[in-house]
Amino acid sequence: MKLRSLTELRGKLKGKRVLLRTDYNVPLKKGRIVDDFRIKISLRTINFLAKEGAKITIITHLGRPKGFDESLSLKPIAKRLSKLTGRDIILIEDKKSIKQALNNQGKEIIMLENLRFNKGEEANSMRFAESITKYYDFFVFDAFSVSHRKHASTYAIASQLKTYAGFRFLEEIKNLSKVLRSKKKITLIIGGLKIKTKIGVINNFLKRSRAVLIGGAMMFTFLKAQGKTIGKSIFVEEEIPTARTLLKSGKIILPKDSVCAKSIRVNSKEKTRVFSCDSIPKNYIGLDIGPKTVNEFKSILKKSDIIVWNGPLGYYENPIFMKGTEKILKFLSKEKSYRLICGGDTLTAVRKLGITNKFDFVSSGGGASLYFLSGEKLPILNFMEK
Ligand code: 3PG
Repeated sequence: MKLRSLTELRGKLKGKRVLLRTDYNVPLKKGRIVDDFRIKISLRTINFLAKEGAKITIITHLGRPKGFDESLSLKPIAKRLSKLTGRDIILIEDKKSIKQALNNQGKEIIMLENLRFNKGEEANSMRFAESITKYYDFFVFDAFSVSHRKHASTYAIASQLKTYAGFRFLEEIKNLSKVLRSKKKITLIIGGLKIKTKIGVINNFLKRSRAVLIGGAMMFTFLKAQGKTIGKSIFVEEEIPTARTLLKSGKIILPKDSVCAKSIRVNSKEKTRVFSCDSIPKNYIGLDIGPKTVNEFKSILKKSDIIVWNGPLGYYENPIFMKGTEKILKFLSKEKSYRLICGGDTLTAVRKLGITNKFDFVSSGGGASLYFLSGEKLPILNFMEK
């Protein structure tokens, strides 16, 4: 797949108006940015555009507002971006003021307020797109993590302006495609609760990998499907038939033991017990993979050339149940295989441990990486392919 890249615009951008779609959908707590990874990964593209003399306008969404919502304003993001780029950011709340801002624009970066404040964004409205694109010469798309959506900023706008892939987008596509093309020994690690959100990836990888290691709450749906006694562990009843079908592949590897507790809120290790996964007592909830499982997973991973991981293996929001995820992540951080990490929660776990740079690639995409790894075509690619 050959994509039209930003580098093709070298030498052609002086004074040109460039609309740049990034994904600054970052975690916020009480109005403060908890993790600015998604802002930082856009800097290479911004710096390139700035160096080439382009007049930059950034568009992004934040959260899932239904209309205007002050708590999802881009103000904190504009502030952080200004700090990271050393440029002033002019945040525009009303599209009607774009023209004037563009006429007065010097080295400042213009940013349009949260796209999702306008219904036209999620409706993929051509008219909404036009009210923006009419001012611009080029569109640069660098928002891999929202590229599975067919929204105005990920589709309609690209259909109206000549569209180029930003550096981060290209890197994401290169790394994820590498996995899909490989003939080497691949192992997939999947966590999370619902099989249905990951079924596309699981099916695609059952065809191409040697093993699919299952952790997270979904392990209990599989164990239940095998008729195991799982105590009070959370599982999804209606997904049991799917789990049964997947088990027939013979490639699904389930945990042998689980770290359990009587409540998800326990605050000391002493209140946890390790049980075999076929005999969890009725008053216990399985909340993490156990030590035997950690060892078994490690020995499978050791023999793999490529490892793709999406979803924590335990209830990692409580640090007591993050240990399984942590042990496997730390083990993988020293392996020589090609290791790709994806998914919002997995990314959070890696970032918490401070080992992001120990992996071959850490995707910024949650839903987008699952979509791509399922073998689906991202809508935006229709406008970038050469
Ligand atoms: C994400 O955080 O995964 C992307 O920004 C997409 O957000 P969405 O799921 O609200 O479309």
